Amino acid sequence: MGMMERIYAKARSDVKTIALPEGDEPRTVQAAAILAREGLARPVLLGEEAAILAAAKTAGADLSGVGIVDPAKSPKLEAYADALYALRRAKGLTHEEAARLAADEMYHGVLMVQQGDADGLVSGASHTTGDMLRPALQIIKTAPGIRVVSSSFLIQCRNKALGEDGVLVYADCVVVPCPTAEELAQIAVSAADTAKKLCGFEEPRVALLSFSTKGSAKHALVEKVQQAVAIAHTLAPELLLDGEMQADAALVPEIGASKAKGSPVAGRANVLVFPDLQAGNICYKITERVAGAEAFAVLQGLAKPCNDLSRGCSVQDIVNTVALTAVQAQ
Ligand code: ACO
Repeated sequence: MGMMERIYAKARSDVKTIALPEGDEPRTVQAAAILAREGLARPVLLGEEAAILAAAKTAGADLSGVGIVDPAKSPKLEAYADALYALRRAKGLTHEEAARLAADEMYHGVLMVQQGDADGLVSGASHTTGDMLRPALQIIKTAPGIRVVSSSFLIQCRNKALGEDGVLVYADCVVVPCPTAEELAQIAVSAADTAKKLCGFEEPRVALLSFSTKGSAKHALVEKVQQAVAIAHTLAPELLLDGEMQADAALVPEIGASKAKGSPVAGRANVLVFPDLQAGNICYKITERVAGAEAFAVLQGLAKPCNDLSRGCSVQDIVNTVALTAVQAQ
């Protein structure tokens, strides 16, 4: 069974309600119909009902089993505005602004999750990552014990010798532009958790990547990764985690054995942690385009799951991301 088939089976075993704020976006409407029909989630489309129904008609999508919520007409609008005001008044948000934001589809969707009316949220087919992330960071906030929200990409490679039967986890490729050593350590620990919970890795083996392996180069950027390794060991002493190391030392057994002798991770890493967002984002896109790998993104570290789509996403990408979100919510 492939990685996504396992995720689908898990999503079906305990069906979750997932809010889709871009309710009249054509690919989202089609994905909602598929998700309901396949029993992968209870999708809820947010937006004006007439616009959603028109989009479904144009797309030929059957919305049986799909919920529709018009934020501006929702009976929960006032309660959500109060909740948002209570959460953000210390940051200077007025009640009037809270009421306006609570009627916005993105904020309304995030508030549905925060208030327990949905188990998770997926958006980003027509919004930027920042537009989607800010309300989630402001309202859902981080899970207990976590200070930084980040992301993992689940990478399905053609080469089954890599990672865990061809599956690798890349972090962080979406959220934190310039992580500090402390943040990098947290990203590594969160990625290991994602690898266990979503990919079913029994033994995450985490490599913190650099252009240096075990002191082969001297530079402030290398020292930051070395510090992150030391901090991660204190955060999760039981975790198989090592670095700094180059990507070849992390992935290729012979190179790992020669460049990082004795490392519990080198040559057999299944979780790769990039030193910053430029490296991570560039690398996941190159892996997709050059190696023909499939890549599925999830956010990690939020108290409740909210996930982002690429604006170039397909209907299938939305179905996959909702299934992953549903499993995160279990
Ligand atoms: N973890 C936890 N909390 C965070 C994080 C984080 N990583 N980042 C910001 N926050 C909190 C802030 O502390 C703040 O909280 P507060 O308002 O309660 O005090 C709140 O979130 C909002 O913070 P801002 O400073 O307003 O937001 P910021 O301008 O830092 O933006 C964002 C955060 C959107 C995540 C930014 O870092 C960003 O744009 N990252 C890159 C996103 C991106 O473009 N990725 C690449 C494309 S995606 C792709 O290719 C798949």
